[in-house]
Order: sequence, then C-alpha cells, then structure tokens
Amino acid sequence: MTSSYDLRGRAAIVTGATRGIGYAVARELVAAGARVCVTARDPDDVRRTAARLDGVGLPGSVADPDHPRRLTELALRAFGRVDIVVNNAATNQPYGPLMDIDPREWSEAFAVNVEAPLRLVQCAWHGWMAEHGGSVVNICTEGARHVGPRIGAYNTSKAALLHLTGQLAGELAPRVRVNSVSPGLVRTEMARFVWEPGETEIASGLPLGRIGEPEDVARAVLWLCSDAAEWITGADLLVDGGTNVSRARIAP
Ligand SMILES: NC(=O)c1ccc[n+]([C@@H]2O[C@H](COP(=O)([O-])OP(=O)(O)OC[C@H]3O[C@@H](n4cnc5c(N)ncnc54)[C@H](OP(=O)(O)O)[C@@H]3O)[C@@H](O)[C@H]2O)c1
Repeated sequence: MTSSYDLRGRAAIVTGATRGIGYAVARELVAAGARVCVTARDPDDVRRTAARLDGVGLPGSVADPDHPRRLTELALRAFGRVDIVVNNAATNQPYGPLMDIDPREWSEAFAVNVEAPLRLVQCAWHGWMAEHGGSVVNICTEGARHVGPRIGAYNTSKAALLHLTGQLAGELAPRVRVNSVSPGLVRTEMARFVWEPGETEIASGLPLGRIGEPEDVARAVLWLCSDAAEWITGADLLVDGGTNVSRARIAP
C-alpha cells in the first residue's frame, strides 16, 4: 500500500531551510520522496544543505524582491515542477516596545515575514501551480493570536501572514491548498534567547511538559503538504505542546 504521505515525484521550495524548523521540514519532505530547493542568506550553509539533501539551493534574502522569482526558476530548471512551497524564513526583529521601533525595521519585518511569502506564492502559481496544482504551508506562530511584550512587530507581521493564508486559500482553491502551521516555543537559534535561560521552568508550565523540537513542526508541515490533507485548506494548525490551552492546566 502506498502511504498518502508519499511525495515521490514532487518538488518543494523551502525558505530558511539551513537550520531549525526549515531544515527539519526540508529533511522530512526529502524523506517522503520529494526533491527540495532551499534558500537562506548564508551561501556556505545553503550549499551544504542542498548537498546534504541532494537538492538545489539559492543563497539570498527572501526580502530581495527578485529572490522569489529566481528561486522558483531554479526549482523549475532543476526539477521541472514546484508542487510545494513552505514559507518558513522569518525575522523576529525589530524587538522592543513599538514606540521605540524604527519604521524602516518595521518595513523590513513585513518584507521578510509577509511580502516574501506572497511573492513566492505568486511565482509558484504563475510558474506551475495554477495549471498543475500544489500545496503551500506558511509558518506563523502561536503568538500571532494574542499580544505580548516586545514582540509587537513580529506578532503583527505573523498575524498578517495568518490572514494572508486564509485569503490565498480562498483565492487559489481548488487548484492549490494554502495552510499555516503555528509553532509554540521550539528549540532553535531564533528562540534561544527565550528557552535557554529557563527551559525547565517553561517546560513545566506546558501541558505537554516540554518545549518543541523542529521535528515536531516538520511532521505537521509534511502532513499538510501531503495528499493525506487533501480536503484541508485555509487551516492554521497549532503545534505548541498545549501552550494555547495552558491556562486551564491544574499544576500537579
Ligand atoms: N523557534 C520558535 O520558537 C518559533 C516559534 C514560532 C514560530 N517560529 C517560526 O518558525 C520559522 C523558523 O524559525 P526558526 O526558529 O527555525 O529560526 P532559525 O533557527 O533562526 O532559522 C531561520 C532560517 O531562516 C533563514 N533566514 C532568516 N532570515 C532570512 C531571510 N531574510 N531570507 C532567507 N532566509 C532567511 C536562516 O538562515 P540565514 O540566517 O543564513 O538567512 C535559517 O535558515 C520562522 O517563521 C519563525 O517565525 C519559530
């Protein structure tokens, strides 16, 4: 019996795929049989990651308006198709109270976290998906649904990405499914400043008793990309160890 997670013959673009959640996603997609095209800013990391995953890679920032087009063209040249797009690259800057934030840094956050995902989906749509179909997963955050100290720019941009996910899901159906995954705290470089100083305490406050690992998120992304999720679009899947329901928890 063939697994409905089987992605053999398909091709994926994963942004921010050289470490953390993006790398785990790319690895999971490859393990399911897909070919991958990866991107990140550090050229050595991109080269190494592409080689390790037997894929292709393009260094550069997703905020460069031309980068999504070049990335899509590379994937089409290498694999002849783009079935899956995972918009994972993001910035958590500028960090701090909104009254102190430089508007140029605010714009940069939106360029990386919101505009780049839209540009990449536009390129994949016009280059392949409009005719052949596909699946898009945007990586949002559990925090996008509520407010928090010093992360106003990040959470506002992720809330916009969440909205963009729903809008695209409606516009691109039935050819293309568009969903998001919203992680809670995951053990990566981006979140090191949160989990490293107080992991034990943070974990003990979570219903599922530990912080997340990149693979926890990657498995959810794989599921949404695969045919097992063929009737799901416009959904946001929380992968947060119960963070969102922790207020109901009665401490042991
Ligand atoms: N970790 C968490 O707790 C957590 C929680 C909620 C949501 N998320 C979301 O999960 C996603 C992945 O985060 P992560 O924690 O895995 O981060 P990470 O470990 O810091 O990895 C980020 C990846 O994105 C690349 N990247 C960063 N800026 C980029 C840009 N402008 N253009 C292209 N590539 C870029 C990085 O490589 P270069 O530096 O070489 O570019 C790296 O490959 C993000 O969307 C983040 O918002 C994370």
